[in-house]
Amino acid sequence: MSAPYGGPMSTIPPLLLERLVESLRDGVLVVDSEHRILHANAPARTLLQLPEEPVGLRMEESVADYRVSLLVDGCLSSGTAAERELSDPLDVRHILAQAVPVVDPVTSTAVEVLVILRDETRVRRLETVRRDFVANVSHELRTPVAAIQLLVETLLGGALDERAVAHEFVSRIGLEVAHMGQMVAELIELSTIESGRLSLRMEPTPVTELVAAAERLRPLADERRLQLRYEVDPTTPHVFGDGTRLGQVVRNLVHNAIKFTQPGGSITVSARRAEDDGDMVELTVTDTGCGIAADDLRRVFERFYKADRSRRREGEGSGLGLAIARHTVEAHGGRIAVESTPGRGASFVVLLPAFRGAGTMTTGRRRG
Ligand SMILES: Nc1ncnc2c1ncn2[C@@H]1O[C@H](COP(=O)(O)OP(=O)(O)O)[C@@H](O)[C@H]1O
Ligand SMILES: [Mg+2]
Repeated sequence: MSAPYGGPMSTIPPLLLERLVESLRDGVLVVDSEHRILHANAPARTLLQLPEEPVGLRMEESVADYRVSLLVDGCLSSGTAAERELSDPLDVRHILAQAVPVVDPVTSTAVEVLVILRDETRVRRLETVRRDFVANVSHELRTPVAAIQLLVETLLGGALDERAVAHEFVSRIGLEVAHMGQMVAELIELSTIESGRLSLRMEPTPVTELVAAAERLRPLADERRLQLRYEVDPTTPHVFGDGTRLGQVVRNLVHNAIKFTQPGGSITVSARRAEDDGDMVELTVTDTGCGIAADDLRRVFERFYKADRSRRREGEGSGLGLAIARHTVEAHGGRIAVESTPGRGASFVVLLPAFRGAGTMTTGRRRG
């Protein structure tokens, strides 16, 4: 840094000071009273989109955001520290800028301004996610609670004496409670996964075992007159992963397929070695259901996201299933994606690492 600061800083050797400023994550910009740039470290150059060599340039000709100049002006004229937020018009980027005057001890006027820039984008995004999460949980719990409350009031108001009505109401309370129970279980699962406390029993797992996890849903599929079929390439290698957790993922996908497919349709669970990456196994759940609109495709893996909120019936999901599925798959080093043609069905593709140990020799052989 070129300017002499006086005070305790001057005892730090200039080279060390320079290294220190350069290694900071926050942007540091020093300008003189004429708005000429005396120093800008790398984060400052990035955050303010400065040219490579900004020293000597005036802020007005090098800093795109005029608000930085205003901040510096305020600081120079008042001689006191000031701060201001530099959010972009789309509210995507949040930068907190603090201006600190460097005061000449003799004249007591601010001769330079030190601007510290902190990128708060990530913190802000996390805050939003947390707020939305709380709002979503409250909403999802309030709906069944309100329904239960109403049913109980009606029962106590006299419906209890009419056997048939009472029976109907109590079974509806049962459904709402089951829905809440499912949601609480999913929330606990999600928080275990997100806190990194999820322990996976990683072992070679035959894909047939994962595909078979869907079998438990056959009664539900039958009831909705849906065909449930399997297509497993016999040369598919074992997956390296936690069979129980991955079985749950398959079951979740099949459960969704059942929910979103009209009677008479079909659901296919297939497995094979991934075509473009031989180290991965590809598991696919395809249905002939209502499909997912293009706008929703990107979002279905978000927590609580449900494409068609108007269709919520009692006992229906909380929108957490796919978020859990994605976390589980990614914790295995895999990926999950979805393709869909609205009106013609959806296809969820899960890529999981193949087991590459000795077991592969007996279960799979590389094609091509
Ligand atoms: N097979 C599918 N066909 C059509 N839409 C689907 C399918 N699977 C998931 N979706 C959409 O994605 C949303 C999120 O799914 P999920 O996280 O499992 O939540 P939930 O099943 O509790 O609604 C669903 O509400 C639905 O809108
Ligand atoms: Mg679901």
